[in-house]
Amino acid sequence: MPSKNDRGKFMWGVATSSYQTEGGINNNDWHYFTTSNSIKKRISTLTRQSIFYKNIRHLQLQPAGDAVRFWDSKYYLKDFDNAKSLGLNSFRISLEWARIEPERDQWDQNAIDSYRKMLMSMRDKGLEPIVTLNHLTLPLWVLTPPIQFKKRIYQYLMPNPIRQLPLDNPPSSDPFWRSLRGWENEETVREFVKFVEIVVSEFKDLVDYWITISEPVASVIGGGYLAGISPPGFFLDGKRTRSVLHNLIEAHVQAYDKISELDDTDANNDESPKNVGFSHLMMIVQPPFNSRDSVDVEAAKNFSYFINNYFLNAVMNGEEDVNYLNTLERYNKDSRNFRINSRWKQKTDFIGLNYYRLLRVRKSQMVRISNAKFIGGAPLSDLSLSNDFVGRLNDLGWEIYPQGLYEIIRSLREWNKPIFITENGIADKSDTLRSHFIIDHLKEIKRCLDDNLNVIGYLHWSLMDNYEWHEAYKQEGKFGLFQVDRNQPDLPRVMTKGAEVLSKLINEPNSTSPSS
Ligand code: BGC
Repeated sequence: MPSKNDRGKFMWGVATSSYQTEGGINNNDWHYFTTSNSIKKRISTLTRQSIFYKNIRHLQLQPAGDAVRFWDSKYYLKDFDNAKSLGLNSFRISLEWARIEPERDQWDQNAIDSYRKMLMSMRDKGLEPIVTLNHLTLPLWVLTPPIQFKKRIYQYLMPNPIRQLPLDNPPSSDPFWRSLRGWENEETVREFVKFVEIVVSEFKDLVDYWITISEPVASVIGGGYLAGISPPGFFLDGKRTRSVLHNLIEAHVQAYDKISELDDTDANNDESPKNVGFSHLMMIVQPPFNSRDSVDVEAAKNFSYFINNYFLNAVMNGEEDVNYLNTLERYNKDSRNFRINSRWKQKTDFIGLNYYRLLRVRKSQMVRISNAKFIGGAPLSDLSLSNDFVGRLNDLGWEIYPQGLYEIIRSLREWNKPIFITENGIADKSDTLRSHFIIDHLKEIKRCLDDNLNVIGYLHWSLMDNYEWHEAYKQEGKFGLFQVDRNQPDLPRVMTKGAEVLSKLINEPNSTSPSS
């Protein structure tokens, strides 16, 4: 593959996150969310019925427990060796805020030292660290997810799941109110920036690639404030969605500024001391395959705008589209609908792109009557029980659509920033589709490079099977290039055919085509 990076190398690597791999983390919002019986009961009622998010068949809310013991150097050293053996040159991890600052303003130096050791080992093995500052989890003091919700009067009269929907506020006795309440509160932004200041000062000599926040819109908001299936668990809460989105943009922008102020140390002794971006889950969004309904087409278009474009428009152009109008109306620049915030402009050095699939979105009465109607419609998350798709499906019922990677990267040309594919991968327990998936997606990257699109790297999600948020360790959530056998006490890592194929494509000398 031709190199496109200013460092003269294409970044080939894998992506992981702390809660999903390290083990032993029990003071964050996800641990709480997956151990509270009332939350678990509510979520299973919510997802068994296809009310907003279509049926999640394999849902298993369970905490990560030991995960894959990545916190233990015996395991991570082996994992770094495995990555290296494939010919990879970079490795993405995230820092667990709850480990480093278990209580407000209490910093755990042992945890900081352990991350330092991990990063140094990574470098010793010849892997460039890419460090995410927030990958979906928050310390409990920042967010204690609500257990109960007050009910609207009519809810008492309705059958499940309507009766179970978290439509109102938690009662004042809920521990939620004693935490910072997560991203709906500006104070969380201030605390996050303090955390960023500490960790960037600690690790700047080792890290040149920082990712501020992972998937702010699709995962943090999509799961936590719209579908209600991730912490804090609000359902179609448009009011909270608006403030959370604003605060997440602020958190990214302020973290970007903080890192730029602090990090002039160049871990690689080259021209660019630091690169700061965010990891953005983007999807090709279309109506259900069998729908000719123009309302579904409109729903998909608006959903795509919200999920794919809104955050980017904000941190590139400084746009805040207060009433969530779509592009054309947005450019009318009616000042009641639209603000430009000059402080937000050009606040990313690269666009971190997470790409997995084509998503089908349809109109939804539930969305339409909610105060979150600006999201357009409801996604069909798992297509396996329907005939609304054309591509192949992964084990989670996600529609595979490799050319979407090219289409999205091409559409990002307008921002004139390097594109770093920070996640791409497949849930495939039998390892039958993984090789094709990798070949087909790398072909699309090759197409991008041939078109002179500035792609600087590719990180596969993930190196090893790990904790998958809503499936925990079920067979349907196996994303690893290395399988992990959880029945063996030592959690051995076993190479998949997909890993062999990826390695071959990377190491093929003078190859200009990943598929050759
Ligand atoms: C998330 C990962 C997750 C993966 C597979 C990504 O959107 O960043 O944490 O495991 O998808 O679901």
